[in-house]
Amino acid sequence: MSGIRPTGRLHLGNYFGAVSNYVKMQDAYTCYFMMADWHALTTLQETKDLRGHVSRMMAENIACGLDPEKVAFYCQSHVPETAELYLLLNMLAYVGELEKTPTFKDKVRLQPQNVNAGLLTYPVLQAADILLHRATLVPVGKDQEQHLEMTRNYSNRFNQRYGEVFPEPYAYNFGEQLAKVPSLDGAGKMSKSENQNATLYLSDDDETIRAKIKKAKTGSGSGGANVGDGGGSEQIVTAMPESVANLFQLLRLVSIPEVVQKFEKDYEAGTIRYGDMKKELGEAMVAFIAPIREKAEAIRHDERYLRRVMEQGAAKARTSAQATLQVAREAIGLNYY
Ligand code: TRP
Repeated sequence: MSGIRPTGRLHLGNYFGAVSNYVKMQDAYTCYFMMADWHALTTLQETKDLRGHVSRMMAENIACGLDPEKVAFYCQSHVPETAELYLLLNMLAYVGELEKTPTFKDKVRLQPQNVNAGLLTYPVLQAADILLHRATLVPVGKDQEQHLEMTRNYSNRFNQRYGEVFPEPYAYNFGEQLAKVPSLDGAGKMSKSENQNATLYLSDDDETIRAKIKKAKTGSGSGGANVGDGGGSEQIVTAMPESVANLFQLLRLVSIPEVVQKFEKDYEAGTIRYGDMKKELGEAMVAFIAPIREKAEAIRHDERYLRRVMEQGAAKARTSAQATLQVAREAIGLNYY
């Protein structure tokens, strides 16, 4: 089970860090993937774009290979059982712990004018999303580790107080280590909150992709391993600058090994031409992103299809949710008749 907040657009980092992981899981497990629209309300005061964001995010995930026939792909707000479990879990969540949660403290700093209770109990709602399906594997990034630990705490407290109902969920990634997707500005990862020009979106058009890569930071000059400065005759072997290593990493993600090897050789020989490398990377990136973008565009505007996906996803999610809530209510003693 995992959730995606419908704010903004998917970028290459989301693709390799999250969506490709979901796509691999869908053939091996019973999966629930959810658009966390209620979670989005904790930070959105203006909601007129919500519908557009949800359609876009659903379309982009499907275009990346998420198959609504194989998984339950649904909107949080279409599964009201989530709210009931959230209420029950609130009895097990201590205000002191919630106030200490790093993500809450970050939000308080970012939006001091809107420190709402939804923000405080964000991790309780997330725990409800997960425990609703009694899920054990949660494909999320490192930034969600704290929320998962809190989910395990609520699960254990529930079981101790009322009887064994919930398992312990853990962060999960399918197969090997997730690929890192570096930003184009020479440092850090691609992210939607950082420099927009250093992030490649799955909705970027071909020219935008080429232009962003053209402007990406590289090492100075054309030298690779042999960087002499100041005319000394000695060869100074320096480590590959991060900006160059990042270009190689991006090339590895979207190009073929032969191309990567060619530029690695050039780099070692000190004959690399970053302009050529970027041109190659640009074309490989266009070939990677364009089909996803075009598919997503078509899906995004197919309202009937999206409605069907949402209805079908909600139906699957509610079946699982209702079974869990029945057991939870019984454990608590809320079954009077
Ligand atoms: N908090 C998650 C994020 O910001 C989104 C999310 C909501 C989620 N509910 C979830 C993730 C349940 C995993 C499981 O990315």
